[in-house]
Amino acid sequence: MLVVLKRDYREVGFEAARMIAATVRKKPAAVLGLATGNTMMGMYEELARLHREEHLDFSRVRTFNLDEYLGLASSHPRSFHSFMQGHFFTRVNVAPANIHIPDGMLSGGYEQYCDSYETAISAAGGIDLQILGIGRNGHIGFNEPTSSLASRTRVKVLSAGTMEDNRRSFGAGEKVPECALTMGIGTILEAKRIVLLAAGASKAHPIAKAIEGPVTASLTASALQLHPDVTFILDEAAAVELAQKEYYRRVLEMTAVLTPARL
Ligand code: F6R
Repeated sequence: MLVVLKRDYREVGFEAARMIAATVRKKPAAVLGLATGNTMMGMYEELARLHREEHLDFSRVRTFNLDEYLGLASSHPRSFHSFMQGHFFTRVNVAPANIHIPDGMLSGGYEQYCDSYETAISAAGGIDLQILGIGRNGHIGFNEPTSSLASRTRVKVLSAGTMEDNRRSFGAGEKVPECALTMGIGTILEAKRIVLLAAGASKAHPIAKAIEGPVTASLTASALQLHPDVTFILDEAAAVELAQKEYYRRVLEMTAVLTPARL
């Protein structure tokens, strides 16, 4: 596990974009696992700039989003489809046929559909780089506390706290979705490489638990400790509760010398 400590939100986004760009330059047909949310906006902004100004080419990249609200049409302004179109896909050259986001308008046949999402990931050769955010309750994707650490893509009922957090992006009186389709923890752990971004004081507690606490379904991001190639990119506020910051700095320095390809 690598912990990269950055100053602020902006630097977190730059660093994550740099890692994605390095992956795509090395493997132009890379399979990217993508996330939505406030934490991701700076990263997508920087990727759009790299495409525009430095010709970073996404034409062969395949993408799989982590999750989508159940009950929202892709055209709904709060759907993750809309988020991805607005912040990323309309600003770079990912081929529409290469974009995969769970279908929020599904009304039945959930298991079959979720199995087909997993099959599509496998058929693409698996995810090369999975990008994650973290919820205040430590969720990754929408794998809420007590999700099985072996879970696969499925329908998940959202916790009251997550619905409260999500309410902020919905209009007054608008119904906040109670369920989502999400990749499972087992799905996420099969990615070849995982990068989790976190910024802001509200993430300090789940980040400390995910990195330095026990592996537990009560805080699903802690399952990342089981993966051999995970990088956490944190700003100062999100890193404030970590006990071993000095050690992480030294590990990073030595990694740059010994195995720079990991960075
Ligand atoms: C979104 C997702 C979620 C978010 C998390 C943090 O696709 O999978 O796990 O990454 O809820 O959201 P923000 O960044 O809005 O705090």
